[in-house]
Amino acid sequence: MSAQFNAPQPEAELRAMTEMDLHAVMSIERRAYEFPWSRGNFADSLNPRYVVQVLARPDGVVLGYFVAMPGVEEMHLLNLTVDPALHGLGLGRHLLDAVLVAAAMQGALLLWLEVRPSNHRAIRLYERYGFHAVAKRRNYYPALDVYGQPCKEDALVMSAQVDVLRRRRDLA
Ligand SMILES: CC(C)(COP(=O)(O)OP(=O)(O)OC[C@H]1O[C@@H](n2cnc3c(N)ncnc32)[C@H](O)[C@@H]1OP(=O)(O)O)[C@@H](O)C(=O)NCCC(=O)NCCS
Repeated sequence: MSAQFNAPQPEAELRAMTEMDLHAVMSIERRAYEFPWSRGNFADSLNPRYVVQVLARPDGVVLGYFVAMPGVEEMHLLNLTVDPALHGLGLGRHLLDAVLVAAAMQGALLLWLEVRPSNHRAIRLYERYGFHAVAKRRNYYPALDVYGQPCKEDALVMSAQVDVLRRRRDLA
């Protein structure tokens, strides 16, 4: 399942994100996105209404994280990020598997998320899992135009049934 993950970071484990992680999380977030979440966004998500996990090494180094918001029989994936220095090693898949496990534990039937249409890497990851584009949200994300002026980018809304994804990923 996560064969590529086993090699580079063998002892990394998933656990709940805490206040102590916010410095490391913000360091990754600022390097991963042109328009990163604020520290306050993460701090706000550290409450029982959200599922918020980090993938961290035993020495405390954070490799990636996700933030998801359970709803009525559904879960909304709000943030999924891997340290840019570690992209392409299978960590994104490992985190997304953890989202699926969390969704099933919460009784979610449907998982959905928004992604920038320009984010080909993430879209490819989601499509490989079995997510489908179901809608577009106009002018959803902040962006910069070719002149460096602020503008907006649409969001692609993608969704999938949790049990279908878990079967595809062979997750118990
Ligand atoms: C999207 C992201 C989480 C993927 O994490 P990752 O650890 O790099 O991905 P993985 O190594 O697990 O690869 C999973 C899949 O992603 C895609 N992918 C990974 N590296 C890729 C690359 N260089 N080019 C294109 N697709 C790539 C592939 O579909 C890959 O599956 P495959 O190996 O079977 O082809 C990561 O790139 C990231 O944090 N990006 C910045 C934050 C972000 O955009 N988050 C998503 C917001 S919606």
